[in-house]
Amino acid sequence: MSNQLILAFESSCDDTSVAVVSTDYKVLSNVTSSQPVHEEFGGVVPELASRAHITNIIPVTKAALSKAEISLRQIDAVAVSVNPGLIGSLLVGVSFAKSVAWSQGKPLIAVNHMLGHVFANKLTHPELEPPYLALVVSGGHTELVHFLSETEFTIIGKTRDDASGEAFDKIAKLLKLGYPGGPIIDKLAKGGNPDFYRFPRGMNRKGIYDFSFSGMKTAVSTYIQEQSDEYIQANLSDILASIQAAIVDSLVSKTVNYAKQEHIGSIIVAGGVSANSALRERFEAYHNKYNIYFPELEYCMDNAAMIGAAAVGKLQRGEFADTTLNAFSRKGLRYV
Ligand code: KG4
Ligand code: ZN
Repeated sequence: MSNQLILAFESSCDDTSVAVVSTDYKVLSNVTSSQPVHEEFGGVVPELASRAHITNIIPVTKAALSKAEISLRQIDAVAVSVNPGLIGSLLVGVSFAKSVAWSQGKPLIAVNHMLGHVFANKLTHPELEPPYLALVVSGGHTELVHFLSETEFTIIGKTRDDASGEAFDKIAKLLKLGYPGGPIIDKLAKGGNPDFYRFPRGMNRKGIYDFSFSGMKTAVSTYIQEQSDEYIQANLSDILASIQAAIVDSLVSKTVNYAKQEHIGSIIVAGGVSANSALRERFEAYHNKYNIYFPELEYCMDNAAMIGAAAVGKLQRGEFADTTLNAFSRKGLRYV
């Protein structure tokens, strides 16, 4: 089949992103406009996010087409993330994508945002094929998923409370470090001693593949209250490295244990937290036992290129949505 071009939209949270991706997983453009308007609130304000998407979507689309050096008429299909996410934000992308597809007479493809994160790996490793075990770690989700094929998968475990990215964000907020907390903690923990203090690892029992981070978060909160501000400042990188180690430990040990139990040879990591340097280092240690895949840093966080990547198979199989397509916010990785 000849190479086709997909115009992809991502607007599930606070990034308006538009990409042009080819069916051989090349990114012709991937333009993302983030929304600084949320910074002063220490988290995303849904109504402000939807309004910013409305302002951003046309200029970002124009920029993506211009960077790819193509016109709207040259695209072969339109892809959009439809769930999960903030409903008002998703609706902006879905309505816009539907209009573009209809006006150009091109097929429309609905993509689950979390499936998009998994397929971000195809942009870096186009040769990657299931079966593999995917650890999907973002601000709203922590899921361990066994992919038998691109269309069939089983959710092995998920978080019982906070997602791993959410744990990073909430702990950064407790320590007044800023938002989003993951990249800030990652940076400040560099050079710190991960064994400085042992924070609890949630649901740390053999054969249990669900995750929990709220006990650890409470332990961090108690620890902070018990120490003086001076002590925390003086030992900040050690404390953060220890917190990071607790989160990373749970993620890596459950993933590797399941892969070992089920004799799965390939592990892929996806979602915003896959940018974490300690998580990458910990998995690195298993390179001789498993094929381990991470997306490139620019495709770890929310972006439209990953939505385009997840749409490639759907385009080739003719799995199209119609103009009745609607956004929905139900959590979790699913096929749509
Ligand atoms: O996938 P993503 O961009 O958006 C969602 O779908 O939620 O993930 C955002 C999450 C945030 O919680 C952020 O703190 C976390 O990913 N994150 C990180 C790092 N970079 C982003 N967490 C740990 N270390 C990082 N380097
Ligand atoms: Zn995401």
